[in-house]
Amino acid sequence: RIAYVNGRYVAHADAFVHIEDRGYQFADGVYEVCEVARGFIVDMPRHLGRLNRSLTELSIDWPVTRGVLPIILREVVRRNHVTDGLVYLQVTRGVASRDFVFPAGTKPSLVVTARKADPAAAAKRAEGGIKVLTVPENRWDRVDIKSVGLLPNVLAKQKAKEAGAQEAWFIDADGTVKEGGSSNAWIITRDGVLVTRPAEHGILRGITRTTLFEVAAKLGLKIEERGFSVAEAKAAREVFISSATTIAMPVVAIDGAPVANGHPGSITLSLRQAFFDVAE
Ligand code: PDD
Repeated sequence: RIAYVNGRYVAHADAFVHIEDRGYQFADGVYEVCEVARGFIVDMPRHLGRLNRSLTELSIDWPVTRGVLPIILREVVRRNHVTDGLVYLQVTRGVASRDFVFPAGTKPSLVVTARKADPAAAAKRAEGGIKVLTVPENRWDRVDIKSVGLLPNVLAKQKAKEAGAQEAWFIDADGTVKEGGSSNAWIITRDGVLVTRPAEHGILRGITRTTLFEVAAKLGLKIEERGFSVAEAKAAREVFISSATTIAMPVVAIDGAPVANGHPGSITLSLRQAFFDVAE
């Protein structure tokens, strides 16, 4: 495997950043994960747009010019022979002696890796659906920034795993579902309306979420952007999550209680099917 680290393509096993990188010291950095399907990086312009927003919010400079990053991403995908899988990129504020305030004159660090995934295994997961465990929201209020500071997400997803679930849902103080540890949350009402939380309110604006809006429009499905409670999700016709790594993935149980008949919903599966026709 090959990784890109600060201007060089190096063997994955020899890919290192400095111990005083601020990503390591302070989680002072941001990232993106893009799906690779049939050799193409899915929704790359949107991912780079969100990266730009994350960097701007944290006053981190682009590590390379915006036009060069797609070339690097494609090159890492190519050098790793990834046709289906994902590409990961991380930008941190750079290397400096530990000091909380922004150091002067550091160059942002850029790391890119790519990994193969088996589309057949993903399809199989979608056929079975996944289980979700709810946990109280305990993250900061800037989760709209795709920061590498993911300790609450790590702990929540670990707790989910220990409970036999594959995703954790962060629940707001008012009882509404925010999002997953690494995905956005959706329900489909008895009337067949898609419901997902507004992206302005304490969630990450998922790229898959945005593209699914277009997929839904193509399929003639209505979307309501509003909060929904755990009880509403449990009683919904269908429930699913979305992310670059899962696309639309059916949820068949919440906190051990089955959703609908406990099987993946047909609308979710048709959204999943149609996704790749719309994504670019
Ligand atoms: N996570 N919400 C959170 C907290 C996420 O971490 C992610 C993605 C999403 C979905 O965003 P998108 O559709 O752009 O992937 C929502 C990635 C996949 C990860 O951390 O691995």
